[in-house]
Amino acid sequence: MQKFVITGGVPLSGEVRIAGAKNAVLKMMAAAVLTDQPCLLRNVPNISDVAILRELLSDIGFEVRRINGDALELHAVEATWPFVPLEAGVKMRASFILLGPMLARFGRVILPNPGGDRIGRRPVDLHVSALEQMGATIVYRNGYYFASAPEAGLHGAHIDFPTVTVMGTENAMMAATLAQGTTVLDNAALEPEVDDLIQMLGGMGARIERTADRRIEIDGVDALHGTEHRVLGDRLEAETFAIAAAVTGGSVKATGVDPSHLGAFLSVCDQMGIAYEADAAGSTLTVHGAANGGLRAVDVRTDPYPGFATDFQAPLSVLMTQAQGTSSIHETIFEDRLDHLLELVRMGARVELVDERHARITGPTQLHGAEVGIADLRAGATLILAALTAGGTSVISGIEHVDRGYEQIEAKLVALGARINRIEA
Ligand code: UD1
Repeated sequence: MQKFVITGGVPLSGEVRIAGAKNAVLKMMAAAVLTDQPCLLRNVPNISDVAILRELLSDIGFEVRRINGDALELHAVEATWPFVPLEAGVKMRASFILLGPMLARFGRVILPNPGGDRIGRRPVDLHVSALEQMGATIVYRNGYYFASAPEAGLHGAHIDFPTVTVMGTENAMMAATLAQGTTVLDNAALEPEVDDLIQMLGGMGARIERTADRRIEIDGVDALHGTEHRVLGDRLEAETFAIAAAVTGGSVKATGVDPSHLGAFLSVCDQMGIAYEADAAGSTLTVHGAANGGLRAVDVRTDPYPGFATDFQAPLSVLMTQAQGTSSIHETIFEDRLDHLLELVRMGARVELVDERHARITGPTQLHGAEVGIADLRAGATLILAALTAGGTSVISGIEHVDRGYEQIEAKLVALGARINRIEA
C-alpha cells in the first residue's frame, strides 16, 4: 500500500498543466465502441481509471494502444466477449457506460452492478429505464445486468429523466446515435463533459444536437465512422490547484482548462475574496492566495451543472477552514459525501455535522498534521489540500483513490514547491 507524506505550510507558486478530464475521456473511450473504425483521442490523462477501462476494452476484444504519450487509439472491430467481469465493475462505476454503446452496436452485453466511490447508493435505474424505453430487454440476476436489443436494433424514444443524471444522459445519447428514428432526451445533463462527448459523436457522423439547455435530440444513423478528438481540460483538477494556491497563500497558473467551465467555483471565489485572473482565450486560470488570510465564509449548495459541482464540495471545505466565520455546505446530489470532514476534524478543523447532507465549518483554524485516510477520489484531494495547509507533517493512506483521477499529482505539486512524498507502507 502506498501513502503520501506531506509537510505543509509552503506557499505553492508556479504553472501547472491541467490534464484531460477523467469524466469525459472514459465516456469517449466507450464511444469508440460505436464504430468498427479507429478513433484517436488526444489529451488523454494518465490515470488509473483510464488504465482499468483500457484493460476492460481489450478483454472484450478491442484494440487499444497509447501513442506519443497523451494519445490513445481505440479500434473496436468485433466484440469477442461482450462481458464486463465483476472485478472491473467494482473498481470503476464508469464501466456501466458501456451499456448503451455495446447494446447499440453489438445488440447485447452483460455488466455487473457498478462500484466506484463509496459516496452513496448510486443506483443505475435511470440508465436501465432509458435503454428499456429504446426497446432493450434488461434482466438483473446474480449481481449482473443481462441486456439485449431487439433483432431490428434499438429504436428512438422520448426519454424524460426524472433526475438529472450525467452518465444516464450519456448512455442514452450514445445508444440513440445508432437507433432507428429520433430520440429526444429531456432534463438531460448539461456538464461540459457531456457537450464534449456530443462533439466527438458529431465527428463520428452522429446526428446529435443540444436543442435547448436540458434537451438533446438525436436522429439515429446506420453506422458511425472513426474520428480524432481532443479531450477537454479537467475543470476539477484545475479547481484543486486553484485551492492549493489560495490556502497556501501562493499563486498558481493552471493552463489547458477553459475558465468558462468554472463559473460556479469562480463565483464562490468572488464571495470568499479570492483574487484570480480567468483568461478564456488563453485557456488559463491564475489564482492568488488571500493576503493576510482575509477569506470570507460562504454558503454552498451542490447542484447539477451549471450549479456548484458535488465533486468539488469536499476540496472546498479546506478553504472554509481558513475563512473568517461560519460557512455551510449542503450536499444535494449524493448521500454519504461528507465523510472527509471527520478526517479534517482530526487535523483541527471546527466542523458541525448538522445531518448526513449538511455541515457547518467555522474558521479560521490552524490545521495540524495527522495520520488520515481516504475513502474516495475527491476526499483524497481534500486531505492533500488540508495537509498542504497544515503545520507539520501528515500521512495520508488510501491514495490509490487519488490515482484514479489525478495524473501525477505529487509531481505537479512538487513542481509548485510542495513537500510531498509517496512512500510504500
Ligand atoms: C457523474 C460523475 C461524478 C459526479 C456526478 C454528479 C462520471 C464518471 N462521474 O457520476 O464524478 O459526481 O456525475 O455530477 O462522470 N441517479 C439515480 N439513478 C440512476 C443514476 C443516477 O437515482 O440511474 C441519481 C444518483 O444517485 C445521484 C444523481 O442521480 O443522486 C446524479 O447522479 P449522476 O449524475 O448519474 O452521477 P454519475 O453520472 O454516476
